[in-house]
Amino acid sequence: MKEKDAYSAVHYDNYLQLDKILDAQSPRSTELGKPAHDEMLFIVIHQVYELWFKEIIHNLSSIMVMFENDEVDEKNISIAVGRLKRIIEILKVLIDQITILETMTPLDFLDFRNYLLPASGFQSFQFRFVEVALGLKKPKRTTYGQKDYQEPFSKEQIEKLNALENSNSMLQLLEKWLERIPFLEFGDFNFLEKYQSSIDNMLKNDKEAVMKSKHIDEVQKNLRLRMLEESKKYYKNVFNEDNHQKLVDEGVLKLSYKATFAALFINLYRDEPILQLPYQLLSSFVEIDELLTGWRYRHAQMILRMLGKKMGTGGSVGYDYLKMTADKHHIFLDLSNISTLMIPRSELPKLPSDFEKILGFHFTNMNK
Ligand code: HEM
Repeated sequence: MKEKDAYSAVHYDNYLQLDKILDAQSPRSTELGKPAHDEMLFIVIHQVYELWFKEIIHNLSSIMVMFENDEVDEKNISIAVGRLKRIIEILKVLIDQITILETMTPLDFLDFRNYLLPASGFQSFQFRFVEVALGLKKPKRTTYGQKDYQEPFSKEQIEKLNALENSNSMLQLLEKWLERIPFLEFGDFNFLEKYQSSIDNMLKNDKEAVMKSKHIDEVQKNLRLRMLEESKKYYKNVFNEDNHQKLVDEGVLKLSYKATFAALFINLYRDEPILQLPYQLLSSFVEIDELLTGWRYRHAQMILRMLGKKMGTGGSVGYDYLKMTADKHHIFLDLSNISTLMIPRSELPKLPSDFEKILGFHFTNMNK
């Protein structure tokens, strides 16, 4: 654009290129001479989704760039949290607008469904881009009939997806950032050691409470004591770095030992001023995972209502396949599972005062 044109009058229509957008709805049923009223809704809603996917990718990609460096500029954490909150709000809208689509009845849908073959949500490049960028990589995917998820895409799109598959996802970038967090050891303070003795203490108190209780019978007592023994074993496993790595290798866990405990530290000491933003960052990813899974369930529910047990236009079994992806395609589950490791505030290891000072808002009056 020439310098003098940059400030020329902008018109709403031109700026938004409405001629292109509003001319981009061509119902197949009309083209085939059997107009089906609801096909317009079907097209518009998919287009709206794709526009929101575009905005999600725009924000997510910018956050990933911020986390690519070995040192993340602290100011960027606040920007990242702001953009993640935007993605969260968009995902809420994406779930909400399914109700608009549900004003179309299964019978209305049948008026044009067969004209769509073999088009399908499987062909949404942007949806796959979001999944892979967040951290759903090929080996972790549930596919149908052993089909490669990239099959429906053009050579150029496959190249883009492969480049993304072979680079660090948001989950991996977050893991590296967590691993660099310097708080787990401070002078003589070793968080893991202290945390472990807090857990031992908590379990000891729980056991004593069960033993002394006059309100439960012997059967209940024994059951609870057995459950406490199980918890003890669980925590013993959790603290073993080799066991953790084994679970990562088996694909049960995604985050490394170090990253997991850094995330736990942030969650436990989130009230410390310096950890408030990191806590919001982690919670945002938990929320994104929850909403994306929510969308998958909601979409599957809609399909059950719209198609029953019919096969999808893309060739999958439909509802059963989509429900399975909702169960299995979590990306940030390790962050949600941190709650298993949480202990009450009253049991939290006390931080040394000089360490606490570093984590707090500390202002030194230079004039004194
Ligand atoms: C009447 C409305 C809809 C029906 C009946 C429907 C049906 C289906 C079915 C059956 C599948 C499984 C693939 C197949 O065999 O075709 C699927 C996948 C998918 N649909 Fe829909 N869909 C509808 C609306 C939407 C909307 C509005 C979106 C928004 C973009 C969407 C996005 C997707 C995506 C991304 C997938 C792939 C999911 C995955 O593999 O994890 N669908 N859809």
